[in-house]
Amino acid sequence: MCGIVGYVGKNISVKKILAKLQNLEYRGYDSAGFAYIKNNNIVCRKKVGQIVNLINATNDQEQADICICHTRWATHGKVCENNAHPQVSYNNNFAVVHNGIIENYNQIKEKIGINKFSSQTDSEVIANLMEEISGAIETRFFEMLKKISGSYAICLIERSSKKLYVAKNKSPLYISQTEDGYFVASDISCFEGNDYYSLEDGMCAIIDKDNLKFYKDSKPCKLQKTKNIYHIDDIKLSKFSHFMQKEIAETPQILFNIAKTYSKLVETIKYKNLFNNIKNVVLSGCGTAFHACLLGEEWINDTYNLNARAYIASELRYKENIIDKNTLVLLVSQSGETADTLAVMNMAKEIGAKVVAMTNIEYSTLAGGADFVLPLCAGQEIGVASTKVYSAMLAVFYILSTKNAKNTGCFNKIITFSRQISAKFDKNIIEIVQKSKRVFFIGRGYDGITAQEGALKLKEITYKDACGYYAGELKHGTIALVDENTIVFAIITNKNIAAKTLNAVEEVCSRGAKVVVLTDQNLSGNFNYIKLQTAADEKLAAIAAVLPLQSLAYEVAVKCGFNPDRPRNLAKSVTVE
Ligand code: AGP
Ligand code: GLU
Repeated sequence: MCGIVGYVGKNISVKKILAKLQNLEYRGYDSAGFAYIKNNNIVCRKKVGQIVNLINATNDQEQADICICHTRWATHGKVCENNAHPQVSYNNNFAVVHNGIIENYNQIKEKIGINKFSSQTDSEVIANLMEEISGAIETRFFEMLKKISGSYAICLIERSSKKLYVAKNKSPLYISQTEDGYFVASDISCFEGNDYYSLEDGMCAIIDKDNLKFYKDSKPCKLQKTKNIYHIDDIKLSKFSHFMQKEIAETPQILFNIAKTYSKLVETIKYKNLFNNIKNVVLSGCGTAFHACLLGEEWINDTYNLNARAYIASELRYKENIIDKNTLVLLVSQSGETADTLAVMNMAKEIGAKVVAMTNIEYSTLAGGADFVLPLCAGQEIGVASTKVYSAMLAVFYILSTKNAKNTGCFNKIITFSRQISAKFDKNIIEIVQKSKRVFFIGRGYDGITAQEGALKLKEITYKDACGYYAGELKHGTIALVDENTIVFAIITNKNIAAKTLNAVEEVCSRGAKVVVLTDQNLSGNFNYIKLQTAADEKLAAIAAVLPLQSLAYEVAVKCGFNPDRPRNLAKSVTVE
């Protein structure tokens, strides 16, 4: 996680550089800092909390011609100024910002001497190793990289040379040239449309105001520029109060985009051959993307004579004998940078399996490494809670699990549905949720998975004790927790098993719980209802059902005074294991 920005060029305002760092705040926001060089000395400033705290502590007149900055999501060492980045070396000669984890940091620390370290971070070893090694700065940098293992995007400065020393291994890092000079960043949203270089794993760059040089294994190498297709509007709030609100509202447009894109994509040979000679389909992702995989598993199994199974990526990466050469490995990730999902990709590629990436970010590591990409067409998602992209994942799985999609009206169904769906519900429910001690989401079949996603959404941005269960499982233990301080959301989109879920509803009502039924059926009972848009296909009903649950989580978070875009302890893109 964490965001890095590095700059070398003309003298420009430090605040201008920090404005770029703010684009990356979604990647981590527990503390932030910068370092620049003034009169051959490193000036370093850090603040706990969001980047705005750092901006407020920065003078309008403060300028730099070389600067590194960082917004952190702590992995090693608690959140405090001392552990925030940049980390400065013990003799004040070097400052570094780092994204990732240096896995052998303890051994290095012991070798150098614990007393030479002032933070609890793994990252400080990078700066201190630079002090320990002798020779020209470039040589030291290459030597230092040989001594560290783990994942990293690094941007380092030395107090007497106006150069950025940059390296990448498993954490993203990009470089672009602007009118002011060179920028290095964890994400291309900082480059304002300028084309950029995407560093490959194991690559380094050394940059001064006039030159950019790439290296691999300490030897000079070349790298092609990539065209910048980033939509700057995605990172503007426009009329909305939060990105999460904006992103939920974008769902209909995204569904439309998907229908348009896939009506062409399904005609390509690569798409048509996706399942050729395949017996097993392994679907994998993390968090919300994993929930999408669970639905994908059900839908693919319901349609094709295939054995599809969803796995949590952090589990799958350590499991042997699941993937073989004839497995189609379908990896689902909004960011395309989730470390566990990338690890599964690497494992699958080593085995020789076919890798398909379902991702929102076309320039991501996942997209770059896969044999085929299923785009999510959703534009950048900034809110930490995934909303519009979850719906996009379901729409793509719906297409994927429709045989002969082109001739079965699948795309028209999506377009019609996209015009009708709504995230609306009775606002009284917000207060009931706010006052309830715990919240359950229940459903059967596909609805059981929507229940899990509804609970995750509520938990991550409202900090409410929420759980998603298969309705039939409640009575096997969890119902013990149900009392008059509980609110239960029952999702019912399948009429064949509606009566069964209603049994569970009666059971929780008998124990004093308040109940809200989300349904597209005509059901009667003495409950609160959220009426869902009837979908032409039960699979699309999963999107109709999740929308109000996303909105509910959003509204409760706002009512509780929390920032839904920046939930505590989380970051948008989990690039560490
Ligand atoms: C979703 O609301 C979460 N913030 C989280 O579970 C997320 O879906 C997960 O980290 C996977 O991210 P990815 O889709 O970018 O791989
Ligand atoms: N491991 C480093 C730290 O905890 C960097 C974390 C990150 O990449 O967010 O400071």
